[in-house]
Amino acid sequence: MADIAFHLNGTQVTVTGASPTRTLLDWLREDAHLCGTKEGCNEGDCGACTVMVTDEHGARVLNACILFLPQLNGKAVRTVEGMSGPDDTLHPVQKAMVAHHGSQCGFCTPGFVVSMAVAHAQGRRDHDDVLAGNLCRCTGYAPIVRAAEAAATAPVPDWMRTDASFLSAKISSGGEAAGRGGQTAPLAAFQPTTTNALADWYATNPEATLIAGATDVGLWVTKQFRDLGQVGFLGGIADLQRVDRDGDQLRVGAGVTITDLMAAVQDLHPSFAELLRRYASVQVRNAATIGGNIANGSPIGDGPPALIALGATLHLRRGDMRREMPLEDFFLDYRKQDRQPGEFVEAVRFPAEAPALRCYKLSKRFDQDISAVCGCFNLTVEGGTVTAARIAFGGMAGVPKRAAGAEAALVGHAFSLTRIAAAQAAMAGDFTPLSDMRASGDYRMRAAQNMLLRYHHDLAGLPVDVLGVAP
Ligand SMILES: Cc1cc2nc3c(=O)[nH]c(=O)nc-3n(C[C@H](O)[C@H](O)[C@H](O)COP(=O)(O)OP(=O)(O)OC[C@H]3O[C@@H](n4cnc5c(N)ncnc54)[C@H](O)[C@@H]3O)c2cc1C
Ligand code: FES
Ligand code: FES
Repeated sequence: MADIAFHLNGTQVTVTGASPTRTLLDWLREDAHLCGTKEGCNEGDCGACTVMVTDEHGARVLNACILFLPQLNGKAVRTVEGMSGPDDTLHPVQKAMVAHHGSQCGFCTPGFVVSMAVAHAQGRRDHDDVLAGNLCRCTGYAPIVRAAEAAATAPVPDWMRTDASFLSAKISSGGEAAGRGGQTAPLAAFQPTTTNALADWYATNPEATLIAGATDVGLWVTKQFRDLGQVGFLGGIADLQRVDRDGDQLRVGAGVTITDLMAAVQDLHPSFAELLRRYASVQVRNAATIGGNIANGSPIGDGPPALIALGATLHLRRGDMRREMPLEDFFLDYRKQDRQPGEFVEAVRFPAEAPALRCYKLSKRFDQDISAVCGCFNLTVEGGTVTAARIAFGGMAGVPKRAAGAEAALVGHAFSLTRIAAAQAAMAGDFTPLSDMRASGDYRMRAAQNMLLRYHHDLAGLPVDVLGVAP
């Protein structure tokens, strides 16, 4: 692996000869001897390893345990050791954590401090959302949130603003590939900067593993100890990270993160945005891409049901060959997708307007949990009659799937409670859900059917928010 260069707490470091799947967490603790960043779960769930990473898009929090060193090339990293000032002045959130007794055993505290300090610099006040990806087992969240609130109005320390200036000073990095036709990357890891370069390389190296945000792939390494062989990192491809409005459609590049997708659909599809707010945590959303969420073919991913309900079109590419298909046709069977060797997800396109779209996520824990059932509904009702229906579920089959029978039971009929009951009955023929640790098959079916009733109430303006409905 060629050199990887980045700034670490204000100083440029160059890493030579590291495996391309060495995680930042392991490198920090074992090589840089910066042990403030903790290893809790080593799978993106607990936030004990939270670090701040700054690039041309600004500063964001990421989980160091599922972040590979090449993903940092040319960026600036700040760990908890870099949160205090050069003269050891505590950051305002650190002072507030002390004053409000926000730490007991202290294991989670470095991760909390980094999450709080980045949110503080961004002026965020949605502390519950910000901290949903940081797990504290002993203090309890009330003192921590009180500390975040207390620090909110303190000025952002100067040292928290310096990382952006390192980037403009051009970090001299190794490992970056040249443009199309000019492959200069080493064999083990390819880091293209254009989609064309990726297309050329992947077509001739179809056995390679693509790594986008690494929120899935990271676990293959940290939990399954897999040797990934040749890998290609997509994070440096700017033209894969574009969101473009094309007439009445939105075209979202495969490299767009869930955080950026959430911002893009906030006003257009608020229910989809709310679903994404409950997708994992800030740290995971800042890394995970919509391309990875589709390509992994998970039956419980949150992106596909919403996109299928919207009538999304998937754009695939292999070399110079491009094809497109309705997103639902991409998912053939459990973990089996219609993707050829050397072919990758380039983008997904969907209508920019769908006022009747509603997405409901059901999980055991409200925040930072995988869906047991994710139901997305998009009906067209004209003159009281349903003229079109797209209903898609995650968690109900081996793939994200439309409820074809329920849709057929609705179209051409009045949008009434009677027809909802008929569609609920028809849904029983659409799916044979599994029982697993998240839910039993019977529970899943009942929940999915009830989501349809909830949708009817929702469009009728009745209160349906699970946090807002009185018990
Ligand atoms: C703690 C935690 C919580 C999570 N919570 C949720 C949740 O609430 N909802 C949810 O839906 N998911 C959740 N996930 C799963 C994960 O975040 C998603 O599946 C994610 O979107 C994957 O995107 P990525 O960019 O990280 O993909 P990666 O991990 O980089 O890749 C995933 C797969 O897709 C392939 N791939 C990536 N990009 C492309 C491309 N452009 N073309 C072809 N193949 C590609 C990779 O080769 C790999 O096979 C969670 C994960 C973690 C670790
Ligand atoms: S160690 Fe738990 S999120 Fe990284
Ligand atoms: S202080 Fe012990 S886990 Fe949070």
